[in-house]
Amino acid sequence: MSRLRPVVAIDGPTASGKSTVARAVAIRLGFRHIDTGAMYRSVALAAARRGVDLRDAAALTALAASLAIEFHPAPGGARGGERIVVDGEDVAEAVRAPEVSTAASIVSAVPGVRAALVARQQALGAAGGIVMEGRDIGTVVFPNAEVKVFLEAGLEARTRRRHDELTARGVEVDLDEVRRQEAERDARDVTRAHSPLRPADDAVILDTTLLTSEQVVAAIIQLVRERTDVV
Ligand code: DC
Repeated sequence: MSRLRPVVAIDGPTASGKSTVARAVAIRLGFRHIDTGAMYRSVALAAARRGVDLRDAAALTALAASLAIEFHPAPGGARGGERIVVDGEDVAEAVRAPEVSTAASIVSAVPGVRAALVARQQALGAAGGIVMEGRDIGTVVFPNAEVKVFLEAGLEARTRRRHDELTARGVEVDLDEVRRQEAERDARDVTRAHSPLRPADDAVILDTTLLTSEQVVAAIIQLVRERTDVV
């Protein structure tokens, strides 16, 4: 595959700081930022609204293949940089609800759903100039990405981050409940048969537990500098 601009793949578990970091890296590079988790969340949200049973793999696959999911540039938007629009509706807020997180994790284990969304992600990033975040970007979606980063953070740090994020959005949740949900989602993402969460062999692993997001962004920009000629 030849592309003029690089693909920066950022993978990692839930609440590892991927979104904040991926968005900031994209802004610094002048690249697009695609949050692939929001795509799995969109399928889960649409399934709930249309009454599709989460055990019905065929119906979920058909939904993932047909749903109109678009990313629109929106500087300063809620997720910063890109708004996610599904069937004409801005769902940036709706897809962050805790029940959608759990449903997205279930939906993302369905092979047909993954195949449909991976194809869309590859099309979105084909020309490069993109920072794509998720779980399988460096392993499956863009195994030849010029820059691959895998973010890690301890469960406590991730629980605190998710709790802060939800509290900031006015969602009241118990810290223990957040920890339980994060651990459960991690376990499902890591153990699923199809494209489980794991670092690519050639990914750079960054433990963000003790780092600020600015430090993580700086480390990734440094990597981009070393591996490409864009900055
Ligand atoms: O990153 P997130 O929390 O928004 O992701 C929501 C769910 O989607 C999560 O349980 C894992 C799944 N996911 C995935 O399987 N592959 C991706 N590339 C992105 C997300």
